[in-house]
Amino acid sequence: MLTVENLPNLQGKKVYVRVDFNVPHKGAVISDDNRIRAAIPTIAALLKKGARVVLMSHLGKVDWKKFKKGEKTKEEIDAQMEKNNLEIAVEPLKAHISAAMGREVAVSFCPENRGPALKAAVEALRDGEILLAQNTRYQAGEEKNDPELAAEWASLVDVFVMDAFGSAHRAHASTVGVPSILKEQGKLVALGYLMIKEVENLSRCVEVKPEDRPYVAILGGLKVSDKIKVIDSLLKKCDYIIIGGAMAYTFKKALGESIGSSYCEEASLDYAKKCLEEAKGRIILPVDSVITDSFEPVEGRKIEVVSAIPEGFEGVDIGPKSAEKFADIISKAKMIFWNGPMGVFEQEEFQAGTKAVCVAIKNLEGKAFTVCGGGDSASAVKQFGYKDSFSHVSTGGGASLEMIENDGHLPGVDILR
Ligand code: 3PG
Repeated sequence: MLTVENLPNLQGKKVYVRVDFNVPHKGAVISDDNRIRAAIPTIAALLKKGARVVLMSHLGKVDWKKFKKGEKTKEEIDAQMEKNNLEIAVEPLKAHISAAMGREVAVSFCPENRGPALKAAVEALRDGEILLAQNTRYQAGEEKNDPELAAEWASLVDVFVMDAFGSAHRAHASTVGVPSILKEQGKLVALGYLMIKEVENLSRCVEVKPEDRPYVAILGGLKVSDKIKVIDSLLKKCDYIIIGGAMAYTFKKALGESIGSSYCEEASLDYAKKCLEEAKGRIILPVDSVITDSFEPVEGRKIEVVSAIPEGFEGVDIGPKSAEKFADIISKAKMIFWNGPMGVFEQEEFQAGTKAVCVAIKNLEGKAFTVCGGGDSASAVKQFGYKDSFSHVSTGGGASLEMIENDGHLPGVDILR
């Protein structure tokens, strides 16, 4: 695959760079610009080669069904669209891009993401300048990989660079449509540095070498049904799968244990049973839990540590015995893939289990290859100050899981092959 490193001199060339700047934000206030910083090496390298960089990203989600004609008046649709678009407008990213570049680079913003205004803004770019275009998801055709939209975007540029690992599992117009058209036209399409790093590190978790064993996966999160494909895939690859977080309770119920009012996905009980049978002791579940009678942090709520959860209580974190058991298995690992926190780490009272996993992985520094697969676990790792203890912390939650599920394949990567 061509990479940003081996692209030729790009003086006078317009380069469409698909980045994933889908950052946590409330309106114009961005609380974490890690994903912007992670794409800077690629942007800087392109500018150094003299390119005119057009940055394209989505931000947030648009539920197009909400805007369907016929069900609402035009005024209602317009009002809803305006409210939605204000929340996901990407203009606030511009200041973060400039700050992250750390030097005088001209960054302009185009409030449109197709049509004459975008074309004019791209044409006005000079060598070494950056243009940030409006949210790709302002166009309904983006998520449908609409060929007309992709063709319009492709017509604006000479080269495509993919650096949006977090969106590489989406076959959208901006991730797959544009490069497939440019490829057909014999134009250059390449991977950015962020993508190279992600693909290299996650590929190691997909094709397991003997020296990377024992390979231990740690999974958490709410729903078993969201992780069925990844569990199936990891069962084939890993020596052990540690399961914490809310999804552990579906597995515990499948074993006939009492889980009180903990979250349980009844529809996945048979699947959980089947997995436990197939795993033959390789799925490791919590042996105790931190429980509460109120998920909401109200005054006077009860918080206890138990092994069998009584009615009226729900499990919200793994308990200390589980943390010790998990840490023991982690301490013997040569490779770790972690996705999903062990408990409700957003509340201080329920952080201990997730922190214990962070500490156990930190203790492996220099002795094992450790990957945190993005999403909530990456936020937790960062929040607790353990980011640098990992060999790799992915910028993509869904993308890293799909990469494991699909044996290393992602639409946004495969199209560049
Ligand atoms: C992410 O944050 O996981 C990516 O940016 C993809 O976003 P999406 O789930 O809205 O497609």
